[in-house]
Amino acid sequence: MANDIIIRFDNVTKFYDSQTKVLQDVSFELERGKFYTLLGPSGCGKTTILRIIAGFEKPTTGNVYINGKYVNDVPANDRQVNTVFQDYALFPHLNVFGNVAFGLRIKKVKESEIKFRVAEALKFVNLPGYENREITEMSGGQRQRVAIARAIINDPEVILLDEPLSALDLKLRTEMQYELRELQQRLGKTFIFVTHDQEEALAMSDEIFVLNEGIIQQSGTPVDIYDEPINRFVADFIGESNIVEGVMLEDYKVKFAGKVFDCVDGGMKNNEKIDVVIRPEDLQITSPEAGKIGVTVDTQLFRGVHYELSTYDKDGNEWLVHSLKKAEVGAQVGLDFDPEAIHIMRLNETEEEFDARIEAYTNEV
Ligand SMILES: Nc1ncnc2c1ncn2[C@@H]1O[C@H](COP(=O)(O)OP(=O)(O)OP(=O)(O)O)[C@@H](O)[C@H]1O
Ligand SMILES: [Mg+2]
Repeated sequence: MANDIIIRFDNVTKFYDSQTKVLQDVSFELERGKFYTLLGPSGCGKTTILRIIAGFEKPTTGNVYINGKYVNDVPANDRQVNTVFQDYALFPHLNVFGNVAFGLRIKKVKESEIKFRVAEALKFVNLPGYENREITEMSGGQRQRVAIARAIINDPEVILLDEPLSALDLKLRTEMQYELRELQQRLGKTFIFVTHDQEEALAMSDEIFVLNEGIIQQSGTPVDIYDEPINRFVADFIGESNIVEGVMLEDYKVKFAGKVFDCVDGGMKNNEKIDVVIRPEDLQITSPEAGKIGVTVDTQLFRGVHYELSTYDKDGNEWLVHSLKKAEVGAQVGLDFDPEAIHIMRLNETEEEFDARIEAYTNEV
């Protein structure tokens, strides 16, 4: 399987100056032909990782491999990698043809071949026949596609996309998400996509890397990360969550909000302090008697598909609920949920410890 790994980072760190560590011991392996997303807040190091892959920056320590070859010292233009930048970085004085052809002209490809390849690339991004349009006459979504055509024309093995959709309005952005994903599948190339929008990451990716402060917090499929966040940061960053402190009394028994509940997690010490996550869509509004937790409804917003309720329990913990039914502001209601809705997170567990525990625990059950 080793030759299916297209990019490998081994303990990569990056300092721009001697004080600030921008990347801390980042290691990963990316498989050929998959759609990866780097997700995290502003300043967490996403662009830095892309720049190191592209060859615009060198790691301070650690090794980078592309196709199994050590590339720390290989310059950007000798790598089979192309980047689509956030602002597209198109040349405004060149028309569509000039922009898409740029890389081939630098490589001194024959003009007749350039014509053919530009036409093919434009067809690929649904802009057939747009060669003679000026960039200034194109919409945001069309410019985006020109930038992608320019990136794919060299037939790179890896395409890096740094927040390429952030300048678009919501509707166009959603359309482009579908388009990009579909394009990646047609091309069969490895895409590494950067965003700080969790919904975008969940919708598009084969695998997500959640980053914070230069450390990979968790990596996995969208479903894995959504269903089993490793810590508060990930749970909070990926979708809306209710997070409260609790105690794992023993396997399958957890205490929080002053009560003991059955759950499906285990593999921790008895009486270990943990964090509990319950997603808002996993909570149902019931009568106060039927509910597992009693709360007061504080606010209610209609969100189209569901109502979003903010409620409080007697200890002042907030419980966000997505409910198909309306409730009354100020009403005392109960919250019901299944044991499967309770997700337990250990405090300060690393990704390796998390994976090992889940594996050991799942084998046991
Ligand atoms: N050339 C540079 N010199 C010094 N510091 C830098 C340089 N480039 C980035 N940094 C710092 O490194 C950290 C990570 O930056 P990076 O651009 O990788 O973040 P990001 O995750 O892409 O953020 P954003 O979502 O805002 O684009 C930030 O604190 C940033 O200020
Ligand atoms: Mg960035």
